[in-house]
Amino acid sequence: MDGERGRALVEAAREGIARAYAPYSEYRVGAALLTADDSIVTGVNVENASYGLSVCAERTAVFAARARGLVDPRSSPLRAIAIHSPGPAMPWPCGACRQVLREFAGPSVPVLIDGSEGTVEMTLGELLPRAFHLEGR
Ligand code: THU
Repeated sequence: MDGERGRALVEAAREGIARAYAPYSEYRVGAALLTADDSIVTGVNVENASYGLSVCAERTAVFAARARGLVDPRSSPLRAIAIHSPGPAMPWPCGACRQVLREFAGPSVPVLIDGSEGTVEMTLGELLPRAFHLEGR
């Protein structure tokens, strides 16, 4: 994607890290979404003492964007996605997050994954081929 926009989106994901809540794994993740109206919506991972209730950064970002009325699969899909972690492992999005992102973004949408190996750009379709969709919806 366009270099300047990509850098701004990665920067937003990096800034979000301060708000991550990851006292259990100590693996902090920030996500930033570029919406159809050019807004940037961020999300962070939010963990819980009951570990399985923890939610990834990508999903908190998607849910925040939807709650703010900024995304719709048909009229206002996402335009780009950035994910950052300062941790030792690259923040490849988990399978559940790939499917949730795909609900609101097409297969050609760029995903910038930023971490210990630098910034890697892939499309959502490359990350999640043959995503699940209900026929006719
Ligand atoms: N995590 C994310 O935020 N995004 C992902 O795609 C994978 C994992 C978070 C969840 C948990 O808080 C921590 O990373 C360790 O699994």
